[in-house]
Amino acid sequence: MQTTIKLLITFVSTALLTSQAFTASPKPAAANNGMVVASEKIAAEIGLEQLKSGGNAIDAAIATAAALNVTEGYSSGMGGGCFVLVYWAETDEVYVIDGRERAPLKADRDLYVDKNTGEVIGGLSTTGVTAAGTPGQPAALEKIHKRWGSSPWAELFAPAIALADTGFDISRTYALRLLYTREKLIQFPSSREVFFPPGDTLPYGFGDRLIQNDLAGFLQNLSDKGVDWFYNSDFADKLVDFVKQNNGYLQENDMQSYEAVERQPIHGNFRGYDIYSMPPPSSGGIHVVQILEMLEPFNLSYWGAGSSETIHLLAETMKRAFADRSFYLGDPDHVDVPIAGLLDQDYLDRQRSTMKPYQASTIQGHGKLPGSESSQTTHFSIIDKDGNMVAMTSTINTSFGSAVVVPGWGLLLNNQMDDFSTQPGVPNYYGLVGSEANAIDAGKRPLSSMSPTIVLKDGKPTGILGSPGGPRIITTVLQTFLNIVEFGMDVQEAVDFPRVHHQWKPDVIFIEQGIPVDVLANLMAKGHEVYQTGTWSSAQCIWVDQDSGLITGGTDSRSEGKAAGY
Ligand code: DON
Repeated sequence: MQTTIKLLITFVSTALLTSQAFTASPKPAAANNGMVVASEKIAAEIGLEQLKSGGNAIDAAIATAAALNVTEGYSSGMGGGCFVLVYWAETDEVYVIDGRERAPLKADRDLYVDKNTGEVIGGLSTTGVTAAGTPGQPAALEKIHKRWGSSPWAELFAPAIALADTGFDISRTYALRLLYTREKLIQFPSSREVFFPPGDTLPYGFGDRLIQNDLAGFLQNLSDKGVDWFYNSDFADKLVDFVKQNNGYLQENDMQSYEAVERQPIHGNFRGYDIYSMPPPSSGGIHVVQILEMLEPFNLSYWGAGSSETIHLLAETMKRAFADRSFYLGDPDHVDVPIAGLLDQDYLDRQRSTMKPYQASTIQGHGKLPGSESSQTTHFSIIDKDGNMVAMTSTINTSFGSAVVVPGWGLLLNNQMDDFSTQPGVPNYYGLVGSEANAIDAGKRPLSSMSPTIVLKDGKPTGILGSPGGPRIITTVLQTFLNIVEFGMDVQEAVDFPRVHHQWKPDVIFIEQGIPVDVLANLMAKGHEVYQTGTWSSAQCIWVDQDSGLITGGTDSRSEGKAAGY
């Protein structure tokens, strides 16, 4: 009986939460000094405290990421990876740190293929230690701390350690994730111990207190001993032993040789705004910029947000970009990604010229470039009083990642290996198909859609954008930006407005609830297949008013985050 009540409360309160997304948006949070916008309230407050106590945006990012490992561990954590964009006001430059997981060094392109049948073995790349790549988040956090941090490393971990130790009350979102992932988690005794009451077959529910003592111990070690302890010590040895005992692929040298990498941001321009976003191994930056630049000649504001004409143009540009994604994109350290070609103006003009204003087109495959022959995650946005900005998207991939907690340490391992094309043409969890460019290889980083994005106008800090959502991240960031710049919404309205998504395959426009039925009918009349579905993504964004300097924050009403400013 108690269990039934627990389930009912979770489902009803979650239904109420998601239906809020399309009622009128509240006013955006506003502040004069600094702000942290994150998809979980406690973590946002912890980041804000760092800013208030004199830390900069980088310090706040590390404190927020550590707290999210505790309060939103189903999404991100030290067992996963991340991408960080930093705008450093003193040098007036945008920097990119890539802390993406890496395929095990003993992996090859057929890692998940049955040698006898030639077919992909279901589940190996999504559940259990076989799905895990070498974690990258600890190395990325250390790299940004060494370069730009001002508060002591241990100070940034203290609030997260306390939270893991004394616990927090499980939110609706957390409870629902636990329910959805229950069958995977219950298979692993170390995960069951953390997420299920003793002897129970249902996980902890909404309002229960989640205490994670092992995780507190793990974070305390990371805080005291630094990141070398993670990659190069008895901890790394124990992690690898556990993986090996369970037929996984990570070895000692995977941990010892991991490095977070600095890369050059993707840069584009739309109506005078400079957009900086994530380069490969993410596809995000390239496709956000490709789509914006294909759309620029159209007077979208005349048609309006959510109109059938605007959605038609969005879908047509999105499908062209995603067709390119599936062919050209992969880890630039392993394959040659033609970034310049994909962003070439003549190429984008040609791609645009194949679009018809009143008719859906069928895209057979990727475009021909000049000179060429040939599902949980979290994002937060931070700005400090000096105008330094951080856009960080962090993930263990799907909810609870591989579903495996490292025994004794409370740490969830990622299942990022599923972001590779396990076999060219075979769709992954998100229905994305890839080619050789994203085939598995030893030490390679799987292709991502994460798109942390920073916007400058006339050289001034203006916007910080990002979201979870698998491939829908790209189209969420794109539409949030357009909602502000093209349709004149404030940042809260912009993150709340109903979204659409097209990823080339399947040839369908996914449309959130909230778009009127006559718009859907118009799209069908143009030849589109449309599929109206629930809600997705969780955009956490900041926009600075250029005249007044007022910082405004929008936290997606689809989740339970906070825009915390001062
Ligand atoms: O890197 C990527 O693109 C995916 N692993 C992100 C997964 C994600 O956003 C899940 N969220 N709903």
